[in-house]
Amino acid sequence: MFRALLLVLLLLPSMAFAGDAARGKVVASVRCLPCHHIDTLSRSIGPGLLGVYGRAPSISGVPFDVWDAAALDAWIASPRSVKPNTRMALPPIADRDRADIIAYFKSQTDAVGPVKGVVDK
Ligand code: HEC
Repeated sequence: MFRALLLVLLLLPSMAFAGDAARGKVVASVRCLPCHHIDTLSRSIGPGLLGVYGRAPSISGVPFDVWDAAALDAWIASPRSVKPNTRMALPPIADRDRADIIAYFKSQTDAVGPVKGVVDK
């Protein structure tokens, strides 16, 4: 009993950190879909986000070489803190929602591999 509890306590933080990709797809559909296609490369108001996790930014003016978890988290937490003149504006997104959105994009890249074709800048 005690051991099982200990195991759950040990696993919880890593589970929270990993994020829930299935839930992230739903959250992204609500929060990002108004301006982005999240599972194609076609441009909407913003660039298509298919395979965004792990690729270089297609937009100018962001201090990242690659959209990894930390870069995506900083960007969707506060786009204007990263790039003051960006046109991407969105109301604050809860920590858990950001983690789940990032987990979704990561799972998408894991599934489709590197995506070529988005070169805006
Ligand atoms: C109000 C419209 C709007 C919403 C909502 C929005 N975005 Fe954006 N997004 C943009 C625009 C416009 C750009 C281009 C910004 C620039 O060039 O500065 C952009 C750029 C991006 C980029 C850079 C893409 C690249 O190819 O480098 C990422 C990543 C991104 N958005 C993720 C998201 C995510 C994830 C969400 C949902 C949580 C979201 N955005 C919600 C408008 C939006």
